[in-house]
Amino acid sequence: MTILPTISTSFIVISAIFVAFGWYHIAKGHRETHQKLMLWGAGFALAFFIIYMSRTLFVGNTTFGGPDSLKLAYHIFLIFHITLATVAAVFGIVTLLHAFNKRFAKHKKIGRVTAVIWLMTAPTGVVVYVLLYLLYPGGETKPVIDAILGTY
Ligand code: HEM
Repeated sequence: MTILPTISTSFIVISAIFVAFGWYHIAKGHRETHQKLMLWGAGFALAFFIIYMSRTLFVGNTTFGGPDSLKLAYHIFLIFHITLATVAAVFGIVTLLHAFNKRFAKHKKIGRVTAVIWLMTAPTGVVVYVLLYLLYPGGETKPVIDAILGTY
């Protein structure tokens, strides 16, 4: 079941590319293009989140299959990535709300922070994907729903 993580990781990368171009276009003063690109970026981020959450609930999360000596470093890095993604999601919602309510000064201020964090989330997500699925064989998959319901 590595197809879902491959798709969701690609969605983070695609989303970050939209955000980077969206930023570029607002710097050039192209407001409409900025709006469109950012909404595509937010859409791909949302699609990532839906796939990730469905997988977490119904399939499970893959445990790290690499050497024990790397486990601690991997988990610290994973937590760093998850923290970035969570902060980016919350900031992203606030950024969009400011934009839709035409509070552009606030939007601009927090939008810069959101964009930078999201642009860090994407490459760290790719590193987690490479460590979890490409460099080492994935470990066990543990369904969260089974753990909650005690059905494993
Ligand atoms: C999560 C999505 C978004 C992010 C991350 C984002 C990010 C940004 C950033 C970083 C800037 C400042 C650029 C700079 O001067 O360095 C900005 C400005 C701006 N954004 Fe967004 N944006 C998003 C969505 C939107 C949407 C949906 C709209 C339209 C409804 C919008 C309208 C604007 C406008 C009009 C400005 C110019 C503000 C000004 O110069 O006073 N943005 N945005």
